Amino acid sequence: MDTVTTIPAVRARVAAWRAAGERVAFVPTMGNLHAGHISLIELARRHGQRFVASIFVNPMQFGPNEDFNHYPRTPDRDAQMLAAAGCDLMFLPDVAEMYPSGPEIATRVEVPGLSTILCGAFRPGHFEGVATVVAKLFNIVQPEVAVFGEKDFQQLTVIRRMVADLCLPVAIVGAPTMREADGLAMSSRNQYLDASQRGLAPRIHAELQRARERLARGERDPEQVGRDGAAALEAAGFRVDYFSVRRAADLQVPAAGDRDLVVLAAARLGRARLIDNLRVGD
Ligand code: PAF
Repeated sequence: MDTVTTIPAVRARVAAWRAAGERVAFVPTMGNLHAGHISLIELARRHGQRFVASIFVNPMQFGPNEDFNHYPRTPDRDAQMLAAAGCDLMFLPDVAEMYPSGPEIATRVEVPGLSTILCGAFRPGHFEGVATVVAKLFNIVQPEVAVFGEKDFQQLTVIRRMVADLCLPVAIVGAPTMREADGLAMSSRNQYLDASQRGLAPRIHAELQRARERLARGERDPEQVGRDGAAALEAAGFRVDYFSVRRAADLQVPAAGDRDLVVLAAARLGRARLIDNLRVGD
């Protein structure tokens, strides 16, 4: 696997593959890779002959009081994991490469409606930062296929909408959430949990399962399901941002009769903000 840090170097490599008729699959990441990322990479490999991963901790998607400076950065270990997973190219740009005028004044991509609800209500500007950097990465790598984890279901939905609205020629594939043995969704931020918080953290998945079962059994009041899930997590010691039942297609509040649903939660334990979700009817 080669590692490149500049946009022209990625473009040259990808252009040569494309000239040889090879399909390029892409996984954008912020690094600090774990088994969840590797599962994205393995899925990406089924969709192309060449595989690119980017590692970039994107300042535009972090709020002023968030963990941008402390976000774990482990590029050497990430490179080893990517090489072992069969990656052809690792793109490791710095902030100046991605935002030559600085992230503050760069052109932004906004996805109205989707980016200000749920996590967007608690992290203003976050999804604008995600959509902007992903659009830039797509323009740099120009993949045929890109893979994103379903763990961040709202991010996946924002990206699908952006790709459709901007007519970007890339197929978006969602990869199932990878979980620890006790159900906790894998995340780089799990390492912020101390031992007792780590013991509590799987309650999010347990409450999502409980909510999903109620809905699958025909519970008619999704708002009550959300209130009950939030109350159970608060009682267990979480600070809950939201626990909500939404339509899977557009994350809007479901109307009577909507069947394709997703239950989403975001809750804080100490300095970790954990997100997770479950589709209803999976
Ligand atoms: O999910 C992530 O790791 C990031 O939000 C992404 C998609 C790499 C954009 O910075």
